[in-house]
Amino acid sequence: MDKRGAPPYPRRDEQIVGRRACDTSRLQTIRDDERRHIARELHDDLGQLLATLRVDLSLLQQQALPENASQQIHSMNELLLSAITSLRRIASNMRPRALDDGSLYFALQTLREDFEQRYSIECELNAAESELALDDRYSTAVFRIVQESLTNIARHAQAEHVWLSVRRHGQTLRIGIADDGIGISEPDLAKPHSLGLIGMRERVRALQGEMVLGDTDDRGGTRIDVVLPLPPEADRASAAAAD
Ligand SMILES: Nc1ncnc2c1ncn2[C@@H]1O[C@H](COP(=O)(O)OP(=O)(O)O)[C@@H](O)[C@H]1O
Ligand SMILES: [Mg+2]
Repeated sequence: MDKRGAPPYPRRDEQIVGRRACDTSRLQTIRDDERRHIARELHDDLGQLLATLRVDLSLLQQQALPENASQQIHSMNELLLSAITSLRRIASNMRPRALDDGSLYFALQTLREDFEQRYSIECELNAAESELALDDRYSTAVFRIVQESLTNIARHAQAEHVWLSVRRHGQTLRIGIADDGIGISEPDLAKPHSLGLIGMRERVRALQGEMVLGDTDDRGGTRIDVVLPLPPEADRASAAAAD
């Protein structure tokens, strides 16, 4: 194009393309905010409501009721349970709120501090910030695995101490969660409505990892070990370097 023909300012179609790019990234941000909001509402609000409904139903069930009413309550309870299950699945596949404020490392630190404060159980975290620059999929999985394990310890273990470790060994990530509580018995593992451990296993399997659940050797208590292979694209640092 000759000099005379060159427009002094971006042509109209270029302006439109520029504006579109701008709109797209703004829309993406709005969409991300919205997703976060929905995940939070699902988890904090709807989850609580459904759990409360289940408690109400079980109180109703304790009253002397005609057989058909009692059967209906039973099937309502089953429905509620599956609603809670799908809610958990949907909410937990969304990015946890804690990851919005910083890296996985800081989210784990916050989880550890909140756990200690809320349950007065000591928790040591062995992790290094530089090793945990992982993409959203892996960060979410690691965070949820640790979160579920700590919740289980608070609810079931009667522990005084937790040892948590999230370390990288080359292209694998090793998560270890050990407590000095009462340990898990075989029947505990077969509880039909216990979805936490099943969910953890599914999450690990989806990332081609392995999860082993057992006793701690010396202290009594429970130990969960997870090994996740980290493909290159899981690595936020290397993905950024490749750009
Ligand atoms: N750290 C732990 N110490 C002792 N028992 C545990 C621990 N983690 C899990 N359990 C046992 O395993 C069962 C299954 O756990 P989970 O699948 O998370 O279901 P839920 O927490 O909903 O009961 C629990 O009900 C509990 O009896
Ligand atoms: Mg649980």
